[in-house]
Amino acid sequence: MSIVICFTNKAPEPWKEVLQTKLKGVDIEIYPKVKDPQRVIFALCWKPQPKILAQFPNLKVVQSVGASVEHITQSQNLPAACFLTRIVDQQLSEDMFEYILTGVMSHLKRFSDYHRDKKQKHWNQKPYKTINNTSIGILGLGSIGAYVATKFGQLGFKVKAWSRSEKHIENVSCFWGENGLGNVLDSTDILINILPLTTETADILNLQNLEQLNKNGYLINVGRGEHLVESDLLTLLENEHLSGALLDVFRTEPLPEQHPFWQHEKIKITPHIAAITNLGTASNIVVANYENLLKGEELLNVVSLKKGY
Ligand code: GLV
Repeated sequence: MSIVICFTNKAPEPWKEVLQTKLKGVDIEIYPKVKDPQRVIFALCWKPQPKILAQFPNLKVVQSVGASVEHITQSQNLPAACFLTRIVDQQLSEDMFEYILTGVMSHLKRFSDYHRDKKQKHWNQKPYKTINNTSIGILGLGSIGAYVATKFGQLGFKVKAWSRSEKHIENVSCFWGENGLGNVLDSTDILINILPLTTETADILNLQNLEQLNKNGYLINVGRGEHLVESDLLTLLENEHLSGALLDVFRTEPLPEQHPFWQHEKIKITPHIAAITNLGTASNIVVANYENLLKGEELLNVVSLKKGY
């Protein structure tokens, strides 16, 4: 029995090293150097190359090393008997909250405008917004979204949040299902997208939805690039319905050199760093899942293949 690590855009060696110290004696191989594909029962994946998991006929668990799984579900045909698991880690939620809080506060206090003014030695005081007169809308109430919504609620923001199924969170007005989305978009100053990418959520940040935000609204996208219709964002910035956006994820990553977002004054970009999987804590989840598989015990953070998260 063995574990295979199938990564693109992420170094596999540190994972192999850490797992090997925690799972003594277990064969851990890095794809494509797999001696006997029949022995592989557990695959650790980050953006695996298309269809490669089909080479392992005895695969029982496919573990994402991130919170998301669409990089696996979109590239593989997973057999129904195979479990798909992901990372749910408090550290990821805290990192995401800190990133979004930085974006929100820097927007409210207009730091980008002052950064521009500084270049021109321009001393120009501007009005600013405060926490208690800012409404935040959050799309997605998984473990990370629920944590972020709770924290913003505790800080005194007016928080509304939307999820597919019914959820209730203290200090947060929760809405769900297709009919609930409009309630969250309407009268929102800052929209934060933390949804998983599924066929239902792709392109959800489009003209029709973003137009419902308050005038001068602001968008923060930490979900996936495919959630955002990029040309619609440009239109809404151009016609000044939205005042800006902070984007951490993109349809193509790294963001291509010619992409208009690089030059756009009202768009801040970061290179997919809002919440990076922590090797120390996440490897414990991987180890627990491998051991649970061997013992026949319940796996942690199993994803519904039907729902896609
Ligand atoms: C990051 O984007 C993740 O999926 O964990």
